[in-house]
Amino acid sequence: MDRILIAGGKPLRGRVRISGAKNASLAVLCATILSREEIILENVPDISDVRVMIEIINSMGATAVWENAETVKIVPAECENVEAPYHLVKKLRASNLLLGPVLARFGSAQVALPGGCNIGVRPMDLHFKGLAGLGAKLSMDRGFVRGSASGQLKGARIYLDFPSVGATENIMMAACLAKGQTLIENAAKEPEVVDLANFLNTIGARVRGAGTDAIKIDGVPGLEGGGRYSIIPDRIEAGTFMVAAAATGGEVTLENLIPIHLEPLSAKLREANVNVYEEEDTLKVQAKEPLRPIDIKTMPYPGFPTDMQSQLMAMLSAVPGTSMIVENIFENRFMVANELKRMGARIKIEGRMAVVEGVSALHGAQVKATDLRSGAALIVAGLMATGETEICNAVFIDRGYHNLEDKLGSLGAKIWRK
Ligand code: UD1
Repeated sequence: MDRILIAGGKPLRGRVRISGAKNASLAVLCATILSREEIILENVPDISDVRVMIEIINSMGATAVWENAETVKIVPAECENVEAPYHLVKKLRASNLLLGPVLARFGSAQVALPGGCNIGVRPMDLHFKGLAGLGAKLSMDRGFVRGSASGQLKGARIYLDFPSVGATENIMMAACLAKGQTLIENAAKEPEVVDLANFLNTIGARVRGAGTDAIKIDGVPGLEGGGRYSIIPDRIEAGTFMVAAAATGGEVTLENLIPIHLEPLSAKLREANVNVYEEEDTLKVQAKEPLRPIDIKTMPYPGFPTDMQSQLMAMLSAVPGTSMIVENIFENRFMVANELKRMGARIKIEGRMAVVEGVSALHGAQVKATDLRSGAALIVAGLMATGETEICNAVFIDRGYHNLEDKLGSLGAKIWRK
């Protein structure tokens, strides 16, 4: 069942509920091991990346179980400082987010390096710089990062050369248990960083300024808090539905989201001649004729998100005129272009820039997903295309989208698994 088939050409219409955010859930699950008390996480998406993270936490001695479809109960008291198994870690890059909390709670850590991935090299130098700034000694040894702290970590002033999401999160988690104050300068401002900070404060941490580029953390001796916490909605899942609605000439209302998190995408869709109406926790996308070509540059939040770039490329492939896309975050994120070309797209790649010459229509073809968001882009392309599209490697799509075929089916798409 690793192939998704789509009979394209049907405008999406109706209402769809957005699930909890993958990236926030992964960071918050790592942060739970900083506490010893029972934690109930709500609005957690049942997707394979989250399942792998839950398995990793369980392998370390904590108990994490699904209470119902979107709620996970974690009892971290028995968590031990054991190596997370490589066969799990290699499936999930975000397992590198265990380094900060494990180091802070146990004074030492050995976390298998997840390695590169299809969208680029993804180094960890900024994570290391930050944790070293807090007093940790870090070394690389046969595929593992080994970290140790002689005594408690110490608060420090840390400047990030780039506002890395993962580095900000790792340093923020470690600093919660450091002695004194930590200031992260040029911190990432993504909503998932803010969600992690809010969760940390729920369990007793003292984090201020998340969402700005200066985050202050006053270390506390221990995080003894537990309780319930609800994860923010997934802005990338929401964005994928928005683009799919616009690209198919449809009209879709998205429920359970935070419209301000989608602003960078909403603004670009409006430039492309799409109506986007925002209410408190819903957003309606209504396509207008004709769509217009646009230029996009991916940037750290609140710039245009790299995780939406491929889906927009798919849409723009069938918008007559020239669109330009500049990818500033991950060096290898244009691989979907070759698959879109199999569907009739005309795209030229020059380093970090893609020039999309929109054609009048894409046609269905056999294509393969090479990473999560390229898979999402091929779904958008398949929904727009005439005829049947077969997407293999659907396992990438399952990493980040809960019930995607059912949700799209309820909006009128003809989509199924084989
Ligand atoms: C997170 C998201 C991912 C999203 C990305 C950018 C998770 C689980 N994943 O990934 O979906 O696409 O943010 O919004 O939250 N870099 C360094 N050195 C470092 C760390 C990063 O050079 O130590 C570079 C990376 O190579 C990349 C850029 O910084 O070019 C951004 O990476 P980062 O923000 O760290 O992304 P992730 O946290 O890996």
